[in-house]
Amino acid sequence: MLHRPRRLRKNPVVREMIAETRLSKDMFIYPYFIVPGKGVKHAIDAMPGVFHFSIDTLLVDVEHGLKLGINKIMLFGVGDEKSADAKSAYHDHSLVPVAVRELKKRFGDDLYVVTDVCVCSYTTHGHCGILENDYVQNDATVDVIAKMALTHAQAGADLLAPSDMMDGRIAAIRNLLDKENFVNVAIMSHATKFASAYYGPFREAADCAPSKGDRKAYQMDFRNGKEALREALLDEGEGADILMVKPALAYLDVIQNLKQNTDLPIACYNVSGEYAMVKAAAQRGWIDEQKVVMETMHAFARAGASIITTYHIKDIVENNWM
Ligand code: PBG
Ligand code: ZN
Repeated sequence: MLHRPRRLRKNPVVREMIAETRLSKDMFIYPYFIVPGKGVKHAIDAMPGVFHFSIDTLLVDVEHGLKLGINKIMLFGVGDEKSADAKSAYHDHSLVPVAVRELKKRFGDDLYVVTDVCVCSYTTHGHCGILENDYVQNDATVDVIAKMALTHAQAGADLLAPSDMMDGRIAAIRNLLDKENFVNVAIMSHATKFASAYYGPFREAADCAPSKGDRKAYQMDFRNGKEALREALLDEGEGADILMVKPALAYLDVIQNLKQNTDLPIACYNVSGEYAMVKAAAQRGWIDEQKVVMETMHAFARAGASIITTYHIKDIVENNWM
């Protein structure tokens, strides 16, 4: 027999030697939910191991994570005032900008701070934009998104992650940042974000479920792969520094296609519903959590993601799974 691929699977040493995909702690971003108050560390039901933190407890948790190598975090604010015009999304005294200032004061460049830029936690109706006649108005929303991005940059954020899916927002953010001299604040576009049922647990956690309707008039239709590439390349053209695909597990084809068509770094967001499914099955003893999680993380990397946003990274580093 000429071809015996099993030769190179004979023992762990040779398997390590030929492994095509390797993970490192440097690839991961951990998401945090910030709530008002002091001393708060409140468990989120459908996301075991994930908590709502007030800013003081957040600082303690981030310090613990940093010691383990979690040095990139993404922030979501939950509990600022809600209004039709989402104005608290760009107040400098809202939770996220205040938290960014505190984190940067305490940890400086040891911590890379990413902020979610979207208004759904700040609107009374829970949509990711300014609503008129039950329709999210694109250009009016882009103005608010850009202001929010600027507020985060002024607070000291390193990387802005717009997750709203309005057209033209990357260019609008980049222009405003440059005009205000934040030329080195980077943008990680949720370039290809699908209207997905996998966001369920997150919407509870972030209190951002639309009170009426769904997000299908702005987030992408999961039936479309070519359009996914088009969305991502538009964002590249508008000046995005990193392109993200979200959710991740059901969209590995999208990640792979993007990898073949761009030279920008590709990120994926392993979302709340994906996390909840693994946790629920593991709690029942139906799957081996460590093995399933690590198989999944390698799949993201194999598909082409070099940056992985995941709630699992704490378990991974705390238990030395990598
Ligand atoms: C809102 C937002 C969502 C997520 C991140 N930002 C939910 C949504 O679009 O409805 C989902 C993240 C997750 O499920 O972990 N802009
Ligand atoms: Zn949103």
